Amino acid sequence: MDELRTKYLPLIDAAQDEAALEELRLAAIGKKGEVSLAMRSLGKMSAEERQEAGPRLNALKDEITSAIAAKKAALADAALDARLSEEWLDVTLPGRGGARGVAEGSVHPVSQVWEECTAIFADMGFRVAEGPQVESDWYNFDALNIPDHHPARGEMDTFYMHRADGDDRPPHVLRTHTSPVQIRSMQEHGAPLRIICPGRVYRADFDQTHTPMFHQIEGLAIGRDISMANLKWVLEEFFTAFFGTKVKTRFRASHFPFTEPSAEVDIQCSFEGGTVKVGEGDDWLEVLGSGMVHPDVLRAGGIDPDEWQGFAFGMGIDRIAMLKYGIPDLRAFFDSDLRWLRHYGFNALQVPTLRGGV
Ligand code: PHE
Repeated sequence: MDELRTKYLPLIDAAQDEAALEELRLAAIGKKGEVSLAMRSLGKMSAEERQEAGPRLNALKDEITSAIAAKKAALADAALDARLSEEWLDVTLPGRGGARGVAEGSVHPVSQVWEECTAIFADMGFRVAEGPQVESDWYNFDALNIPDHHPARGEMDTFYMHRADGDDRPPHVLRTHTSPVQIRSMQEHGAPLRIICPGRVYRADFDQTHTPMFHQIEGLAIGRDISMANLKWVLEEFFTAFFGTKVKTRFRASHFPFTEPSAEVDIQCSFEGGTVKVGEGDDWLEVLGSGMVHPDVLRAGGIDPDEWQGFAFGMGIDRIAMLKYGIPDLRAFFDSDLRWLRHYGFNALQVPTLRGGV
């Protein structure tokens, strides 16, 4: 047995590949392997001899089996390492170009419009802020002047996160709008303040004009004498830059718990002939909600409403993407249909800038 051990263990250790290992396995513990033959000879032994040799042979078989398994794993690791170092690739390099000439991937219209908005608002002095998509109900509702049992909570079709059994704190939610980032930014930076927050939001709603996940861009400007007139100017300036031409807008009086007064803004468009066009037709598409920030909201953000005031808006990124690029069905945005992406996608190397044109 000692001979078998000193014969096979070093051989296993020195094996160069899986085939060599398999040969050794057969030679040692395969049906006709040396260890197996020795085991078969147990029958010819006396009972005492067998009692001594049996367990030792079994132990040897186990030892060889696990040595082979360990070597096999080591060989696989080494093979993977070799492959990884041979096939490494710099994913930051531009594509070499397939059949289409340029890189095959394209930028989704939502990402494109997100970048376009950022470029335009950055030029007006707004910085980009961010917040979590899984939000506490305080940031998503209470701080925005939407107390518990307020009907707006029901209207939002909120997705609630599950809490562990017995944990009776209020559940977190998937944020239903980007407005909680208003509060987070006020708390972090105080006044004066000028931020936008593009991001994903979630509502349990699905039909031709609603998807359970969609995109908003929040805007917030706080100063000593910021007014509704500034809001209107900023938005019209934005639309002109974004659409590359003056578009007709309609400011409609509205209501949000977190702004007072409030207005919704529609853009003139037509939905004829299977596409959507801005600046013509008799249809209006609602693209944003807005208003003067409610004093309670300023207070929740730690800002004194006797000294500061400001405006806020929340715009649908997907909506303005549909308008600008003539995409009639919102649901197609999230179908991941390659034909759609190739048709509506953008060149990944052409980053939107104000000078290059958005
Ligand atoms: N949060 C509102 C919504 O999702 C939009 C909004 C933002 C309205 C800011 C007013 C001010 O519908």
